[in-house]
Amino acid sequence: MKVASIIALVAGIAPSDSFLAPQAALRASSFASRVPTAVSEAAGSPAAPTRTAVSMMSKSVDLTGKVAFVAGVADSSGYGWAICKALAEAGATVTVGTWPPVLGIFEKSLKRGTFDEDMKLEDGSKFENVYPLDAVYDVPEDVPEDVKTNKRYAGLSGFTIQEVAEQIKADYGTVDIVVHSLANGPEVTKPLLETSRRGYLAASSASAYSMVSLVQKFAPIMPKGGSVVSLTYIASEKVIPGYGGGMSSAKAQLESDTRVLAWEAGREYGVRVNTISAGPLKSRAASAIGKEKGKKTFIEYAIDYSKANSPLGQDLYNDDVGNAALFLSSDMSRVITGTTMYVDNGLNTMGLAVDSESMKKD
Ligand SMILES: NC(=O)c1ccc[n+]([C@@H]2O[C@H](COP(=O)([O-])OP(=O)(O)OC[C@H]3O[C@@H](n4cnc5c(N)ncnc54)[C@H](O)[C@@H]3O)[C@@H](O)[C@H]2O)c1
Repeated sequence: MKVASIIALVAGIAPSDSFLAPQAALRASSFASRVPTAVSEAAGSPAAPTRTAVSMMSKSVDLTGKVAFVAGVADSSGYGWAICKALAEAGATVTVGTWPPVLGIFEKSLKRGTFDEDMKLEDGSKFENVYPLDAVYDVPEDVPEDVKTNKRYAGLSGFTIQEVAEQIKADYGTVDIVVHSLANGPEVTKPLLETSRRGYLAASSASAYSMVSLVQKFAPIMPKGGSVVSLTYIASEKVIPGYGGGMSSAKAQLESDTRVLAWEAGREYGVRVNTISAGPLKSRAASAIGKEKGKKTFIEYAIDYSKANSPLGQDLYNDDVGNAALFLSSDMSRVITGTTMYVDNGLNTMGLAVDSESMKKD
């Protein structure tokens, strides 16, 4: 069931003298021309792009006429939101899937205009539809009685993956771009050594199998050349203490499944499947990963570590991942499938922490 039809997100909020130049001019101009050059000129190197400049890059891709479904959006702090923004800025019709327990607050915030500043599209674009989606259920028969009667699901139906795919088909006929930007590990704060079978399987179900199911149910309604993109994390392949509860295993599954799904969905439907291994971002989900009293949170440590030790040593914005997802969703990447693309300032390449105590010179 469609919960909210036509939620206007940002109509008319971008002032005419804002940083957003006319669309045609932007499409013709290069990103470099919009990068501020205030600092480092003496050294002959351009200044680092600001967040504004990063979020403007999507203007040079044209997705007019394409329909996108982004699963896992409930506020403006995460990667899903930035991907929506990049796709919408490029002209796509963007719809989102939101987890029922947070759907009410998300819709209220949208209506109140809480996220208007974070959206800021020149043409006043909006999310066309917000569909309730619980990605741990594939078909209606999977939904247990206690969930159906839970007050957070009260009045909702059609939130399984199969039903959302059917609803989108009914609303748009097709979907060109599908994004999986969700994860859930109820025991994420526990080390693997202490993770229960139930917690481990719950992490896999919500964070990895959900992607398999999305491709199963959506690929048949996608055109040839359609694109599926998900979000993964380096903990899949390197040990990241603190990212527990089987979440590291779920991300390893997600990456492996990306390759197999690329093969199968490629041959069956001509659909591409890729994943982005994103650097650390202080999203709502990441902020919940864990904190010892009086100390920084897991994600704050991870961000500081990345800045200190990655080759580029610069801030990473959710818009950077939005732009990478935009590339993977557009025809510019039409021969790319089955890949894990690192969008992490190069941190994945490092084998040594240069800010380690052991590296301190006498
Ligand atoms: N934040 C980071 O540092 C980071 C780094 C690498 C990868 N990622 C990945 O990016 C993706 C997006 O996460 P984010 O960090 O941007 O946080 P986020 O909070 O913006 O997104 C996570 C979303 O998952 C939704 N969700 C949870 N369980 C669900 C379910 N059963 N059905 C449907 N939706 C459900 C939540 O409501 C939330 O909207 C995740 O896959 C995450 O693992 C995040």
